[in-house]
Amino acid sequence: MDLTALKASAIQDIERANNTQEVEAARVKYLGRKEGELTAILRGLKDMTPEEKRTLGTAANELRQELEALIEKKLAAFARGPRTRFDVTKPGKKLALGHAHPLTKIDTQIREIFSSLNFSVVEGPELEEERYNFDALNIPGWHPARDMWDTFWVKNEVSAKRMLMRTHTSPMQVRYMEAHKAPFQIIVPGRTFRYEATDASHEINFYQVEGLVVGPDVTLANFKFVIEAFFKRFFGSEVEFRFRPSYFPFVEPGVEVDIRLPGGRWLEVMGAGMVHRNVFDAVKYDFRNVQGFAFGMGLDRLAMIKYGIPDIRLFYSGDLRFTKQF
Ligand code: DAH
Repeated sequence: MDLTALKASAIQDIERANNTQEVEAARVKYLGRKEGELTAILRGLKDMTPEEKRTLGTAANELRQELEALIEKKLAAFARGPRTRFDVTKPGKKLALGHAHPLTKIDTQIREIFSSLNFSVVEGPELEEERYNFDALNIPGWHPARDMWDTFWVKNEVSAKRMLMRTHTSPMQVRYMEAHKAPFQIIVPGRTFRYEATDASHEINFYQVEGLVVGPDVTLANFKFVIEAFFKRFFGSEVEFRFRPSYFPFVEPGVEVDIRLPGGRWLEVMGAGMVHRNVFDAVKYDFRNVQGFAFGMGLDRLAMIKYGIPDIRLFYSGDLRFTKQF
């Protein structure tokens, strides 16, 4: 047998050995003192010419060393324990992926629904001027309705303007109308602030979505259509809702919208109404040419209803046992 073929088969036998016995069998087969194939070649050297001895002898001795090293390596691997194999059928390790906060999910969904109804989504500042949060919304300083919004006032050290953390998203109505002409339809999702004691349904920080539609002949019936379409998409089914007369300084008439919960209880989810003439005056719209409806809803409350969450404070707890459920 020539050396090259012997080398190939010896290496293969050693590599394929599954346990120490098989390695030992391969060793005996090639390097065994009595019957080993390589041993036989090495033994035969003495009968060869000096020339043959030199070439074949060197190669044969090198091969012997190589095989011995290989065997040693193989035995050491077995001593280390079973070879770890990659089992492609095993379930993989779960990657810890981040995900959206429940309020972010609701926010995204609301933006999508109103976008599909042809509303533009706009945003405004959280640190707001008194004029936008109150005065231009028909809530002058003396107005008792200011008590509806417990306010975080912010010290202004750069100008005489009185500043506050916006108590609702309604100021964007004014900002938007100051900068745009009618007709338009917008929603304004955003963060709002109230200087209040917290409990299961009150937070000092929460989220609202404002809506405003203004045009030459916009009516409350249009509002009813829009809000019905919204509820249907948001809750995924027909929802019973009702309008109750209510008061907000920036609308006339004003309403509150309740929806019927699965248990049968009515729950208020938003305020709305027809934009008050004084608001149009404040933004220099001519009330004889335009009319519009506005609405404002609490995003947290919608999320609580949709997911059955009992306490608004959970949203802001940072507790992963809570947020991971969504
Ligand atoms: N801004 C009101 C609040 O935070 C909610 C509201 C009521 C918004 C009536 C409106 C509206 O746009 O028309 O309590």
